[in-house]
Amino acid sequence: MAEGKRYSAIAMTLHWIIAVLIIVQLCLGWYMNEIVPDHSPLQDRVQDIHVTVGLSILILVLVRIGVRLTHPAPPLPSGMPAWERALAHASHFVFYLLLLVMPLTGWALVSVRHEDIPFFGLAWPAMPMLDHLAKPEARAVARQLKHIHIFILVWIALINLALHVAGALKHQFDGNPVLWRMLPIRRPL
Ligand code: HEM
Ligand code: HEM
Repeated sequence: MAEGKRYSAIAMTLHWIIAVLIIVQLCLGWYMNEIVPDHSPLQDRVQDIHVTVGLSILILVLVRIGVRLTHPAPPLPSGMPAWERALAHASHFVFYLLLLVMPLTGWALVSVRHEDIPFFGLAWPAMPMLDHLAKPEARAVARQLKHIHIFILVWIALINLALHVAGALKHQFDGNPVLWRMLPIRRPL
């Protein structure tokens, strides 16, 4: 496969680092919310890691979007039907939206609740405006944000991930392989 037909090294590196971090986040979020006892010191510690990793994703995604705007994606294989191309593009677009909205809703949630926002030992600032809400309003906004962050977005992410992996694997074996475009190894002959 010609070099020009794969993603750039920086795009691949960011794709796989962010993919691993998203899976770590889904596991940490589920563990801290469903397994660890509520209001325990362990829950606080796991939440601190979740917050730090989530904010790291936010920064990496902003870099990734910058890279994407300056390094166009290689064209999809020419044998791929139009509806599959449209689905692949839609799934990528949904991912970029999720990769922004998931950390932003998490950041908004901890800001409304006036919780500490740790970031590798530093104090990350609260989201502007949200730390000044009156108590009843803050509670209502926090409830909505929590529902969006831990339920709606998580389910959309899981469905999109299943679609994304199924699509990549299907194309890999139906004569329109795409996996090599995102892997730092050469396609075997
Ligand atoms: C939560 C984890 C993941 C996220 C957020 C994610 C996100 C994305 C995004 C946004 C793109 C589009 C890149 C662009 O054109 O700018 C992409 C491409 C790609 N991803 Fe993932 N991905 C994840 C996991 C995976 C996994 C587990 C696989 C392995 C099967 C995979 C395989 C690929 C491939 C092969 C492409 C290139 C597809 C193409 O050329 O159209 N991804 N991914
Ligand atoms: C892409 C990044 C992120 C993903 C994938 C993610 C995912 C999750 C998941 C799966 C849960 C638990 C869902 C359940 O109960 O089963 C959760 C909860 C939570 N997340 Fe995130 N999160 C992300 C980023 C963030 C960020 C950046 C923050 C804060 C700055 C944050 C703060 C929280 C908090 C405070 C909870 C617990 C809510 C509660 O029950 O009180 N998250 N997240």
